Amino acid sequence: MNQQKHKLSGRIAELADIEPLEKLIQYAFRGGKSAKSWTGEEHLVRGPRITLKGLEEIISGQDQVVLIAEISESDQKKIVGCIHLKKENNHGHVGMLAVDPDLQSSGAGKFLMGWCESYAREHYSSTEMVGEVVSGRPELMDWYHRLGYKETGDTAPFNPDGVEHLVDGLFFVKISKPIN
Ligand SMILES: CC(C)(COP(=O)(O)OP(=O)(O)OC[C@H]1O[C@@H](n2cnc3c(N)ncnc32)[C@H](O)[C@@H]1OP(=O)(O)O)[C@@H](O)C(=O)NCCC(=O)NCCS
Repeated sequence: MNQQKHKLSGRIAELADIEPLEKLIQYAFRGGKSAKSWTGEEHLVRGPRITLKGLEEIISGQDQVVLIAEISESDQKKIVGCIHLKKENNHGHVGMLAVDPDLQSSGAGKFLMGWCESYAREHYSSTEMVGEVVSGRPELMDWYHRLGYKETGDTAPFNPDGVEHLVDGLFFVKISKPIN
């Protein structure tokens, strides 16, 4: 998968990618750099977004995949972002979408979402994408709206292991998009 405009390319994550992915995901969600903007969660929560063990389980698990976006720098490839896709019945469940804060707003997030939808359709015969957005992130919800996602009307508790809430009343807002 290639996108000439931003020189992005994609590949499936392997176990060797766990350490750089963990760093990137933590930096994107909790890095502190995005504290002044809408792109992170550090104003809402504190604690790990993912662990090395959690990533290992995902990458070696059945019916799920982590897709990576990269750019070329000289002859080297640099990981720009990632997304977790899991098959759930006829749904493709997306999560852990993370783009390096130093390289955000260059199309990598949309590239990963688009590839994820194609992958779910082609490899898992998914007819719908589903996911969750933490409440209190209206700009992120707008971002998903621009990609065709809508709130389903359902919510779920938001209580990841080891994560401290910095504001009261956080929950997951469920979103979906038909892809057939
Ligand atoms: C959400 C996220 C994946 C977006 O990735 P990205 O590569 O920056 O997104 P893209 O470049 O594809 O799209 C950028 C869009 O957001 C806008 N944008 C990006 N950064 C922005 C900022 N700081 N302020 C306002 N708008 C911004 C761009 O203008 C563009 O708008 P458009 O949709 O009208 O074109 C990224 O911010 C991220 O990793 N955030 C932290 C982790 C996270 O919250 N993930 C989502 C979990 S559900």
